[in-house]
Amino acid sequence: MQNSPPSAAPLPALWDRFPSLAGAAFMPTVDRRACAVGPAARLRGGSIGHDATSMRILLTGASGSIGAALAPALIRQGHDVRGFGREPARVTAGIPVIRGDAVTGVGLDEALDGIDVAYFLIHSMEGSDRAGFEARERASAENFVVAAQRAGVRRVVYLGGIVPRRRTLSRHLGSRLEVERVLLAGLPEAVALRASIVIGASSRSFRFMVHLVERMKLLALPAWRENRTQPIDVRDVRAFLLAAATTPQAAGGLSLDIAGPDVLTYGRMIERIADLMLVQRRTLRFGRNVTPIVAPVAARVAGEDPGFIGPLMESLEGDLLPRDEHAAQLLGVRLHSFDRAVERALREWEAAEPLSAR
Ligand SMILES: NC(=O)c1ccc[n+]([C@@H]2O[C@H](COP(=O)([O-])OP(=O)(O)OC[C@H]3O[C@@H](n4cnc5c(N)ncnc54)[C@H](OP(=O)(O)O)[C@@H]3O)[C@@H](O)[C@H]2O)c1
Repeated sequence: MQNSPPSAAPLPALWDRFPSLAGAAFMPTVDRRACAVGPAARLRGGSIGHDATSMRILLTGASGSIGAALAPALIRQGHDVRGFGREPARVTAGIPVIRGDAVTGVGLDEALDGIDVAYFLIHSMEGSDRAGFEARERASAENFVVAAQRAGVRRVVYLGGIVPRRRTLSRHLGSRLEVERVLLAGLPEAVALRASIVIGASSRSFRFMVHLVERMKLLALPAWRENRTQPIDVRDVRAFLLAAATTPQAAGGLSLDIAGPDVLTYGRMIERIADLMLVQRRTLRFGRNVTPIVAPVAARVAGEDPGFIGPLMESLEGDLLPRDEHAAQLLGVRLHSFDRAVERALREWEAAEPLSAR
C-alpha cells in the first residue's frame, strides 16, 4: 500500500480565530473532510462547538489503555459516560457498558442511542486470522458509522497513528489511516487525532519497550534505531481527546497530528528509558532491519502477542513525524517532555506492580 496521506487544505478562518497562529512559519495542514451523509443535526441545536458540560458520551475501547485513561477524566468533567466492549467485565472505570462487537455490529445501535459525542478507540490486531486484521478494523469503522448515522450522532473522536510522509505504509498504519478515512467520510464532525508511541503505564507499546529493557541485558537494535519519532505523554493524549469533543473546529471533519515536544530516534528512546530506569544495558546494533526474526523473539521476551509486535515493528521502519505541530495550540494543550512522561509512567507502573530491573 502506498503512503498517500490526505492532502492539506488551507483554512483561512483559523487565522481569525487563533491570531497567534498567523505569524507562524508553517502552513496550517488541518485536513477537513466534507460530510458525506448524516441526519439533521440534533445535538444542542446542531451547534458545532458542543456544550462542554454534561454530555452523553460513548466510550468505545473503554477497556483499552487509552480508553481506561480517558474515562475518569470524562467522569470528572461531569459527563454521562457509557462504555462499549466485547466483555464488559474488562472495563474497570465503573461506568455502564453495553456488550457488543463492532466487527459484527452487534450492540452498536443500543450503545449509540441518545449519544452526543462518541469516542472510537477500537483496535485489535490479534486473533486467529491475523492476516485479516485490516478487514476487521475497516468493518468495525463502517459498522460504527452506519449505526452513528442511524442514531443521529454527528461527532466521533478517533485516535489513530501518525502517517509517514515518504514511504510505504506498514499494514498497521495503513489500517489506522483507513479507519480515519471511513470515519471522516461518514460523520460530519469527525475528529481524527494521529499519534506516535503513547508513553503511559498501561500503553502497550511503552510497556513493550520497558519489558525489553527490564528483561534483556543486551539490547539488539536493528537499523530502525536511527529513525525518528515524537512520542507523546498519555496525559497529553487525554487532554487532546477531551478538547476534541467540544472544539468548534470540527465542522466538516478534522485530522490533526498530536506529538510530544521531543524528537528522538527509537534507539535513543530505548536508551533514555534504560537511563530513567537507572539500569545499564549494552546494545548490539544491526545494519539491517530483521523484523521477521527479531519480532517473535522480542514478543516472547516481553510476554507480548507476536501478532501485535510484528506489525508494530514494521511501523518503525522509517521516521514517524507529525505533519505539523499546531494541534497543541489549536486545542489548547500544554505538552510534557519525553523524560517527564517516562518518569511519570514508571512511577505509576511501580505503584501497581514491580519492575524487576530496579
Ligand atoms: N497505545 C499507543 O501507544 C497508541 C499510540 C498511537 C495511537 N493509538 C491508538 O489509540 C487507539 C486505542 O488504542 P489502545 O492502545 O487503547 O488499544 P488497546 O489497549 O489494545 O484497546 C483496544 C480496545 O479496542 C476494543 N475492541 C477491540 N476489538 C473490538 C471489537 N470487535 N468490538 C468492540 N471493541 C473492540 C477492546 O475492547 P474489548 O477487548 O474489551 O472488547 C479494547 O478496549 C487505537 O486506535 C490506537 O491506534 C495508541
